[in-house]
This record gives sequence, structure tokens and C-alpha cells, in this order.
Amino acid sequence: MFKKPMISIFIAFIILSTVGSITIASAIDSDENDVYLLCVYDILSELEIDLSEYVALLKPLSHTGEYQHFLSENATRYQAFQAINPRMPRDLVLAYVNVNLDKEFYTDILEVANPGSLYVLVNKHHGFPRNWIPDDLVIIESWRRIRKDAAFNILMMKSDMEEAELSMHLVSTFRSFGSQSGIFSNGVAQFGRTRAETMYARPGHSEHQAGLAIDLLHSPPRGALRSAQFQDTDEFEWLLNNAYKYGFILRYPEEYVDIHGYIFEPWHWRYIGIEIATVMFNEGISLYEEFYGRYLVSGVLENAVDIINTIRELELLAIFEAEEIERLQIEADAEAVAQRLAEAEALAIREAEEAERLAAIELFQTTMMNNTEQNNINTSEFDNETKLNVFIVIIIPLLLLGLCIVSVKVATVIVSRM
Ligand code: DAL
Ligand code: ZN
Repeated sequence: MFKKPMISIFIAFIILSTVGSITIASAIDSDENDVYLLCVYDILSELEIDLSEYVALLKPLSHTGEYQHFLSENATRYQAFQAINPRMPRDLVLAYVNVNLDKEFYTDILEVANPGSLYVLVNKHHGFPRNWIPDDLVIIESWRRIRKDAAFNILMMKSDMEEAELSMHLVSTFRSFGSQSGIFSNGVAQFGRTRAETMYARPGHSEHQAGLAIDLLHSPPRGALRSAQFQDTDEFEWLLNNAYKYGFILRYPEEYVDIHGYIFEPWHWRYIGIEIATVMFNEGISLYEEFYGRYLVSGVLENAVDIINTIRELELLAIFEAEEIERLQIEADAEAVAQRLAEAEALAIREAEEAERLAAIELFQTTMMNNTEQNNINTSEFDNETKLNVFIVIIIPLLLLGLCIVSVKVATVIVSRM
């Protein structure tokens, strides 16, 4: 009969002493507050006390060590989820509850606040705003579209796979709300609702709508059989060991089908960026929900990665600009060389023309001289001919005339003497 009030007094004592400690400790070392609060959380949880009344007191508990992802607003849900999963480690309970895995699928759906983020979490608990379409989709292969960052990395991955004598065949990339709707309805018609729910996301809940998911196979698909075989291929093995280097993770792993709610999909890979995919790989976390609930829900890691990316983009920009300057310099040098060549060519043409002109003048002069000599020869020939003609036409008749006159005179003299 006195048990309950006694426990209440005990708890009140703990809480009051904790609050007192916090006030003193906050002046000394804020990390110590978290240690006290962790103790409170542990004690209250072990006593199976409803934490809802103490949430405000637990607020500073977040972001500390093993329980860095403790969110005070989720305190009572952690407790409830732990109660139905007694063997689940506390830190995992926190991670799962943080991303609503303590709720039934498609109940209490949250609209994602960051639909355009590369890290967006979309599942049976989180959905896109209706008709969301990313604004940086690019065509990667025939009509298939995907977000720019993912596209670049898919192409790199594909080329490296081909170098390793493996093939990558893209089956599906971005799907709009409308096309996901069609796929889901067809699935329901073909397999029945229960089975279809494990194969296709409801419209608004598919990662394909994020423009960050790809379905890929080792060869062009021929029905479901080909997809089922993919898990036994060298291509799948390679992806398991290497996809993170290109920013991709396997989104629906076999060991978590109850948690993500879909059948094992060895073909479905999700782009989350190289940094986070690498952290996941190194930490050995294979379920994105767990990673998100541990590290991304507070936004701290996301901000850190964004900062890294911004720095990297600035570095890339600087490299690009340096290359651009170099290229322009080379172009300018080439232009100068081309100009010098053009000038030399023009000079050569001018010189050739001049030489031609001089040659022409020389030729003209030579011709003229030859003509003059010829003329001179011709002139002397003309003179001789003219002289002969004058001689023939004038002198001979005159001589003949004189001869006649003389003859007449002689004859007259002879005749007169007779
Ligand atoms: N097959 C996956 C779950 C989708 O429809 O998005
Ligand atoms: Zn898929």
C-alpha cells in the first residue's frame, strides 16, 4: 500500500538532487550534466517509470557519448520500444525510435523536411511532398534520369566495373510520383496487396522519386528470374565491397527485411554521397535507418559533410580556375604563335609577290632589250632594202634617162655633121 508513494518520493528525491547537481555542475562542466542525466534516464527506465513528465529535465541529455542521439522528446517512446524489444541494445533503440521505426508502417507518416538533400530518408514512415521532383535531374542513359551527383558517380562506377570485366545494366532510375503510382497499382493487381507492399513503395515513398536510387542488373533483364539471380553474381559481390567508394549503399539488405519492410533487393542501390557511404561502410552499419537515427537525425553529421563538400567544391573550383587560366594561357600562346606564323606567311607572300613583280619587270626589260636589238637588226635590213629599192626605182631609171638623153644628143650631133 505504501509502495507507490515511496517510489514516487524516491524518484522525486533523485530528480531534485539531479536538478540541484545540474545547477551546480553547469557552472563547472557541462559534460557532467549529461552524465547525471544519463543516470536519471537509466534509473527511471529501469524502474519502468513514465518519462513523459520528466522530458524537460532530460533535454540536456542529447548528444553525449553512447547516447549522443538521445532526443528528449522521444524519451517515452524509447522506453516503450525497449519494453517490447528487451534484448535490443539501448543505443539501437534510440536510433530506431528516432526514425519512427517504433511505429507501424504507413502510420504517423512524416513528410520529409529535406526532400532535396542527398541524405533524405524516405521509407514507409517518411514520404515526399506530393509531386516532388528534384531540380537537377540529368539524362544518364537513353530516357533514364538521375540527379547530377549520382549520375557522375554511376558513370565512374560503371567504367570501373567494366575495367574489372563486370557489367552494369541500368534498369530503373528516377520515377515520378505518377509512375510509382502506376507501378504500385500494377503490383497490387498482379501479386495482391500484401505481397505488392513488400515489393513496391507506395507513391510518395519510393527512393526512386528522390532521383537518387538505381536498380541495376548484370545483364538486360528477362523477368523476375534475372533479378533473383543477381545476388549470386560477381557484380553484386563487387558492389558490396566497392559501391560505397562511389557513394552508393545497398538499401534493402536481407537481414533487415522486417525493418525496412521490403523483400531483399540486391539490385536497388541508393546514392548518399561518398562521405556518408564510407562512414557507414567503416562503421559496419548496413541499414540506412540505423545510421540516420544515430548520426543524421540531429543534423550534426549532415552539416559537417555539407561543410566538407563546400570546401571540396571550392577546392575543385580553384583547381578548375587554375586549369582554365593555364588553358587560356596556352590558347593565348597558341594564338600569338598563330599570329606570328600568319605574319610570317603574309611577309613571305608579299616577298614572293615582290619577287614575282621584279621578275616580271626583269622579264619585261629583257624582252624589251631583245626587241630593241631585233629592231636594230630589222632597221639595218630595212635600210639596205630601201637603198636597193631606191636604187632600182629611182637611180636606174634616171641613169637610163640620162643615157637616152646623151644618146639623143650624140645622135643629133652625128646627124648634123653628116
Ligand atoms: N522497390 C522499391 C522498394 C521501390 O518501389 O521504391
Ligand atoms: Zn529500386
